Amino acid sequence: MVFEYAPAPESTSIVDIQTSYGLFINGKFVKSKDGKRYKTINPATEEVLSEIVLAGKKDVDAAVKAARSAYGKWSKLPGATRGKYLYRIARILQERSREFAVLESINNGKPIRESRDVDLPLVAAHFFHYAGWADKLEYAGVGPNPQSLGVAGQIIPWNFPMLMLAWKIAPALAAGNTVVLKPAETTPLTALLFAEVCQQAELPPGVVNIITGAGETGSALVNHPNINKVAFTGSTEVGRLIASSVAGTNKKVTLELGGKAANIVFDDAAIDQAVEGIINGIFFNQGHVCCAGSRLLVQESVKDELLDLLYERMQTLRVGDPLDKNTDVGAINSAAQLAKIQELAESGDTEGADRWTLKCELPEKGFWFPPTVFTNVTQAHRIAREEIFGPVLSVLTFRTPQEAIEKANNTPFGLSAGIWTEKGSRILEVANNLRAGVVWANTFNKFDATSPFGGYKESGYGREGGRVGLEAYLKSGDK
Ligand code: NAI
Ligand code: MG
Repeated sequence: MVFEYAPAPESTSIVDIQTSYGLFINGKFVKSKDGKRYKTINPATEEVLSEIVLAGKKDVDAAVKAARSAYGKWSKLPGATRGKYLYRIARILQERSREFAVLESINNGKPIRESRDVDLPLVAAHFFHYAGWADKLEYAGVGPNPQSLGVAGQIIPWNFPMLMLAWKIAPALAAGNTVVLKPAETTPLTALLFAEVCQQAELPPGVVNIITGAGETGSALVNHPNINKVAFTGSTEVGRLIASSVAGTNKKVTLELGGKAANIVFDDAAIDQAVEGIINGIFFNQGHVCCAGSRLLVQESVKDELLDLLYERMQTLRVGDPLDKNTDVGAINSAAQLAKIQELAESGDTEGADRWTLKCELPEKGFWFPPTVFTNVTQAHRIAREEIFGPVLSVLTFRTPQEAIEKANNTPFGLSAGIWTEKGSRILEVANNLRAGVVWANTFNKFDATSPFGGYKESGYGREGGRVGLEAYLKSGDK
């Protein structure tokens, strides 16, 4: 007998979306000076949500000026006072977390279960964590009397809009910098709601400025001569552009780029837990995760058993309305991202891999891609090499630990990896040999405000999170 779930929609009445937004500069929402406008939509319904500014060069300049003039006072405040503002922001974010979670799901397409239980709790945790650091900067590890950098230009992607905002803004402010942040063009709404939180917390005007727009706005910000730091999370392609455009300037840079993580399952692994870890690794947030476990490396002797269990477990995944509390897999964030996933999946077919697709009903409107597994994948296939950034798993096999390590490292990326085995010594041995910034053992996609996160090779440079994350926003003092 099959039980069906009744719809369990989260109410949207808590969210108040305006028909249009300005830019948040110097503590106020202002009209654009030279920008254009575009419409932001709900990717699950294609419904227009609001009209947003594509900020122009003059807008970027106004935001940088506001951040620069706020910098003098903000950087000289006692650390404990900056900490008080950050604690206040953290508490407001907790109080308003349901509002943020619902809005995040509406604009991004991610399941409410994730925005409510993962994104927003981590957002508050980051602000709390860095609030605690604001008066302890001499212990940050950059030497005595550490100094802030100045104005930070921060550019974030659409997969974790509020979480990436928190990763960028919290350490920057704790360290005494002021910021101009640009959210991704498809997900501006929670960043604009965060601007209201800054007002509510009575943060001094100009300390946080939020300008919306796409690549041109981002590029104008990165290339503005009066910023001291660039923090970017997004594609390797844009990361490369940024790295070359700031080369030869005094701007400090951190880049958090793509990934193609190996999730390695050994024959002695607790297999049910491994299946959960594989599901979480690739279907969490529709696979729009830079550290997604998108390459499953399974020891040959347990491949058939593991795949049977994986397909069985996948049957229970519920794909659909992001605002339904029972939904596991929501909407793809944009038409462009859907086209990219489709194109890469088709390359899997033409290059000879076997596609297995979860049978599920997809809504008629909006952008959707069903959870998919490719087997018979070789290391040469594009689906084994390129970041798909969608709910698509590529399965490869190995026979020995050495082969697993070689295959795992055979990628231009190096952001994350997972190891599943009962043997502690094997975990240590394999983890030591993986060229990945984060290695999870018998778990996956675990994030913590106290833990540094970042990559090797084409996954970027610099670390975010924890004490180490402060280094990106500090220079050592004179003494
Ligand atoms: P993207 O790198 O173009 O966008 C990320 C951010 O950079 C957005 O705010 C965007 O407006 C901004 N941006 C774009 N061009 C810029 C430029 N020239 N200068 C400064 N800022 C610029 O990523 P996109 O196009 O949204 O996604 C393409 C692929 O990138 C995805 O399919 C995925 O593979 C990867 N990606 C990886 C992310 C990660 O977390 N590592 C996040 C988003 C995308
Ligand atoms: Mg792009």
